[in-house]
Amino acid sequence: MSASSPARKPRRGPFAIYRRTIALLGEERRLAAWLVAGNVALAGATFAEPVLFGAIIDRLTRGGEAIAPLAALWAGIALAAIAGRVAVGLNADRLSHRRRLAALTEVFGHALTLSLSWHRRTHSGRVVKALVVGANALADVWLTFFRSGCATLIGLAALLPASLALNPWLGGILIALLVVFGAAITILTRQTQNRQEDVESYHSDVAQQAADAISQVAVVQSFARARAETAALGAVMKRLLDAQMPVLSWWAYAAAATPAAGTITVLGVVLAGAELNSRGLASVGDIVTFAALATLTVGKLGEAVGLVNMLMLNAPRIAELLDVLDERPEVSDREGARDPGRAAGRVAFERVSFAYEPDRPTLTDVSFEALPGETVALVGATGSGKSTTLALLHRAFDPAEGRITLDGADIRDLTLEGLRRNVGVVFQDPMLFARSIADNLRVGKPDATVEELEAACAKAEVLDVIRRLPQGFDSLLGERGASLSGGERQRLAIARALLKDPPILVLDEATSALDAGTEARVQAALDAARKGRTTLVIAHRLATVRSADLVLVFENGRIVERGGFEALAAAAGPFARLVAAQELSRPREAREGAVEVP
Ligand SMILES: Nc1ncnc2c1ncn2[C@@H]1O[C@H](COP(=O)(O)OP(=O)(O)OP(=O)(O)O)[C@@H](O)[C@H]1O
Ligand SMILES: [Mg+2]
Repeated sequence: MSASSPARKPRRGPFAIYRRTIALLGEERRLAAWLVAGNVALAGATFAEPVLFGAIIDRLTRGGEAIAPLAALWAGIALAAIAGRVAVGLNADRLSHRRRLAALTEVFGHALTLSLSWHRRTHSGRVVKALVVGANALADVWLTFFRSGCATLIGLAALLPASLALNPWLGGILIALLVVFGAAITILTRQTQNRQEDVESYHSDVAQQAADAISQVAVVQSFARARAETAALGAVMKRLLDAQMPVLSWWAYAAAATPAAGTITVLGVVLAGAELNSRGLASVGDIVTFAALATLTVGKLGEAVGLVNMLMLNAPRIAELLDVLDERPEVSDREGARDPGRAAGRVAFERVSFAYEPDRPTLTDVSFEALPGETVALVGATGSGKSTTLALLHRAFDPAEGRITLDGADIRDLTLEGLRRNVGVVFQDPMLFARSIADNLRVGKPDATVEELEAACAKAEVLDVIRRLPQGFDSLLGERGASLSGGERQRLAIARALLKDPPILVLDEATSALDAGTEARVQAALDAARKGRTTLVIAHRLATVRSADLVLVFENGRIVERGGFEALAAAAGPFARLVAAQELSRPREAREGAVEVP
């Protein structure tokens, strides 16, 4: 029951990730540029303070010179810096909040366009985690960088030449300190980057495993698996911690080393300064300036270590978000695809082959035609490829070979939206949203009136059920519609498809969960709904497809027999065997009753 991560993508370098992080600023890049400018100004202000301090000390030691102008300048810069920090901090905060939600929305919208095959490979728990955690990581990086991180890096970069200009000897000591630190940080990031990526991948495993167990809680409870599931999650947590601990140790060393380096540097500056002063190479003011600069540099280095740590921590989270964003839908609109408008409904499969996995054909050489208004039934053993055939019609996947046409046009030349507007599907698993019943129905027709909802529900024999609920159409459904019975869900899914009023109706075991009486009534409604529509219907209960114009019998992904219901039943082929098996498996009364079902 271990949640194994899907095949790892090639690792992205940190710089590639940060480049994309900047690109994701979108239309806020202008504000971002202003924030960088503000950071430059703030870095300058920070740098000016120790220089002014040193200059004042020099004037005091020389005696007789006025220090008021310098003090006034210092105060002015300090006040301006306060105002600047508020403005930069506030705007950085607002920018990162706005862009976090914008990026989340963008990636969410993109994920919804990705192919079903990608979604079947990638657990929903993992996708949601990548979106939420990734967007938070982006916001964290933007905020920290634009609020102060940028000023820290600029300040450090500016300290080098400026301190050299002030006093080459003392400047040299500071530069040596920076070089040692730069080298240490590089080694550190190399050591921790891969481990941190592993940690993030385990976090995704945890999200997947937890979401998987919680969404199937009924199974977990009925099989008394609560303790086992918790233990399984604990095992992933242990692997996560094993990967996280060394990273934490490395960064703890880095954090502890920073102040120690500060003490050594300040001491070095003072000692070297005293020596230089005695030789007339540095003034007392120089020493004060440099002692302050050294403290400042060490403080900035501490901030830089924190910044790099934060970037290293967030880079893998952002990479997971980018993995979703960079995924291309396998099925998408072709260049110059056209909207078919409302189709007449002539559907043809021409020598269609398809495989979910290479070397394991799911469908081979499937050909058939349904004229507008005709009903074609797909029957055959479970796993023979019926649902897959109909999934190809609304381009959940594209065929590997052959083509499917709608009114004579290859469906790949039509826009996805235009095609799918023409096809109403009642899925084998009637997937419903955890929203109100009305919202679920309006998925089929967003502007449907209450009267239209009622009419569709009446046809699907579910109106009475809805009326009995205290909140009627406003009743909220549980996750995947869990607060309804299987048959109620199925009828709601039928109403949803009927409301769409499409020229092509796809019914995948649409009535399999209904009792015989209800099924007969829903069948009658579906028979009425089929008038004027091309209907493709999958059914295990063969009696329900008696009135089909054409029956296709599937076996191992191939059509092995085709024809009218009565003719096939009379022939001694695969269909007749299916009919016989079904008759035998039913009790006598049901067998007799079934004949009456249309
Ligand atoms: N996402 C998938 N990835 C890999 N194989 C799949 C996938 N979906 C279905 N299959 C396989 O493809 C084959 C055909 O499945 P399909 O759902 O089309 O069968 P079916 O005829 O509709 O069966 P049933 O009557 O049980 O609904 C099966 O062997 C199934 O295991
Ligand atoms: Mg099926």
